[in-house]
Amino acid sequence: MTHFLDLHKTDAGELRRIITDAARMKAARLGRPRGAPDDEQPLDGQMVALIFEKPSTRTRVSFDLGVRQMGGQTMVLSGRDIQLGHGETIADTARVLSRYVDLIMIRTFEEQTLLELAEYADVPVINGLTDRTHPCQVLADVMTYEEHRGSIAGRKVVWSGDGNNVCASFLHAAGQFGFDLTFTGPETLEPEAGFIDFARSRGVRVGIERDPHKAVAGADLIVTDTWVSMHDPQSARERRHNQLRPYQVNERLMAGAKPDALFMHCLPAHREEEATSAVMDGRHSVIFDEAENRLHAQKAIMRWCLGT
Ligand code: CP
Ligand code: NVA
Repeated sequence: MTHFLDLHKTDAGELRRIITDAARMKAARLGRPRGAPDDEQPLDGQMVALIFEKPSTRTRVSFDLGVRQMGGQTMVLSGRDIQLGHGETIADTARVLSRYVDLIMIRTFEEQTLLELAEYADVPVINGLTDRTHPCQVLADVMTYEEHRGSIAGRKVVWSGDGNNVCASFLHAAGQFGFDLTFTGPETLEPEAGFIDFARSRGVRVGIERDPHKAVAGADLIVTDTWVSMHDPQSARERRHNQLRPYQVNERLMAGAKPDALFMHCLPAHREEEATSAVMDGRHSVIFDEAENRLHAQKAIMRWCLGT
């Protein structure tokens, strides 16, 4: 079964092929209305389940639109709509869904739910974000970087803030696409050692630098994300804000990177917290290109999963 569960689980050559395919499909529909079908209809007759245990704007809309552009159909299910883990095992849910749909995309609270679903499903499963990783986002981010600046290999990426799920997928991408990554943030919010070890095992440099201004020297890309993720307890909010304030991406921090450095944020953002509006709307920012490329990257991911 060809699942898309995490960037380190898919061969680097396949990831490259997916990005190339995404760029090709994006170019092929330039200037068309969003709802117009693609010339190719590789998902004709296919039914895709989109399951959300937590809220989403980009993932929900981009997957739904992408399936429609490729001629398929979707059903969007919330955690409340189905019995996922409440009264019915995830394994049984996986086997049942596999009798109805051709592909499952799921956003879960716990990674274990995704892994169990994939283990028992007879159809491909795509990770639409868990508490630990966000591979669709970061594949779209690599595509976005390369659209603006060419190959990401050998570049220096700086992650400033919480070493969360998106940061973890950036570490997987560092190993797979061959770029260096420096994490700058508080010690208690560093990414798990396993993610760092993966990147290092592929021969790229992973740095940990407590001082954000030192960290960004020579950076080609600065990335940040919300200080409190959806799976974090709200009780941690105040402490996290206090810890993370020095890691805000503002114009002063951006000025310490290379002059042509890019700024990314997966969104949704809390403006004036993890990043200022001056940076988000400034000349370095490619945040809305990232959002658009979710659509194109995920279309290519779905085709890859289905072999169409
Ligand atoms: N970046 C991202 O996954 O956004 P949503 O939570 O809106 O899907
Ligand atoms: N780190 C964020 C990403 C949202 C797309 C979260 O998990 O809430």
